[in-house]
Amino acid sequence: MAPMCQYSAVDGVMNDWHRNHLGARAMGGAALIICEATAVSPDGRISPGCTGLWNEAQMQAVAPINAFIEGLGAVPAIQIGHAGRKGSAHVPWNGGAHIPDDDPLGWPTVGPSSEPFDADGTRLWKAPNEMSIADIEVMKEKFVAAAKRALDAGYKILELHAAHGYLQHSFLTPLVNTRSDAYGGDLHSRARFLLETAEAIREVWPENLPLATRISIHDWIEGGNGIEENIQIAKWLKDVGVDMIDCSGGGATPKARASIGERTSDQVGLAGELRAATGITTMAVGYITEAEQANNLIKSGTCDITLLGRQLLREPYWPIRAAQILGEDPKPHMPIQYHVVAS
Ligand SMILES: Cc1cc2nc3c(=O)[nH]c(=O)nc-3n(C[C@H](O)[C@H](O)[C@H](O)COP(=O)(O)O)c2cc1C
Repeated sequence: MAPMCQYSAVDGVMNDWHRNHLGARAMGGAALIICEATAVSPDGRISPGCTGLWNEAQMQAVAPINAFIEGLGAVPAIQIGHAGRKGSAHVPWNGGAHIPDDDPLGWPTVGPSSEPFDADGTRLWKAPNEMSIADIEVMKEKFVAAAKRALDAGYKILELHAAHGYLQHSFLTPLVNTRSDAYGGDLHSRARFLLETAEAIREVWPENLPLATRISIHDWIEGGNGIEENIQIAKWLKDVGVDMIDCSGGGATPKARASIGERTSDQVGLAGELRAATGITTMAVGYITEAEQANNLIKSGTCDITLLGRQLLREPYWPIRAAQILGEDPKPHMPIQYHVVAS
């Protein structure tokens, strides 16, 4: 299961919603469940309802959920990130607009540069505070602290969110990062924050547990990063100890393709290009909805892991059905309590 925000936490703490939402997909046979974008600090949330791992209460709330889904045979994984200039937004069903600083629900945002995400004049677009070098150092420590809590919470794979125009991606892409110090300029300088963060996390994330990074494999807009840049970023990530690349796309600016837009499936082919060029374990995502389709992506060597997002919202039992379609015994993918219906 691909990471999917639920906007349903209180003070970043997961609750019954998350237990049932994640548990249902584990019961449905998902092998790997990547929990939603989880903020490393309060201002790293997209919305006030986003989950966090900046304190012990958040860690303690999710630990039993992880134990539950692991008991059902799924691998619990977490995506940690920071929303950057896209943070401080209302939850989608309340419109998703930025929340002003003087509203108790809102907070000041940060980014590599001070341009707001949009400036169309129809609603508030918050201008982020440009991060100083000292701010970057502190932010890396927050990522490391969240990684340690993720380990304590029982997650078995840690994914660093560096896609969709959030903080890490906004440093990577020249569409947002206009800095002239060591963290801006050429590709390597723009990647410095991500590479240093990944390297620092690798020091605390055990060698026997995979470390993944989700990238926007294409910015899908003139002047942004494309597949070549992202292959290079993946090679550098591999050098600092990242084991897997999760290939999503878009989201850097309002004019770029959205990460769940109509042509998201284009990024699946690019995942194959990245895998061929880097040899790194690769996850593909984007409109994967059918059993044969997912199976063929693995068989053809396009990717090592297929991630499903919306299809698993529609159909939590998709993996069991997929096993049946592919002629596999569905029982190993089902809770033992349900085996009675499998014969
Ligand atoms: C409700 C919803 C929430 C999402 N939240 C996240 C998220 O927290 N982190 C992330 O990287 N992508 C997020 N995405 C993107 C998905 O992980 C996935 O890349 C995208 O939906 C495309 O896959 P699909 O076509 O199988 O849905 C979200 C998508 C949806 C539909």
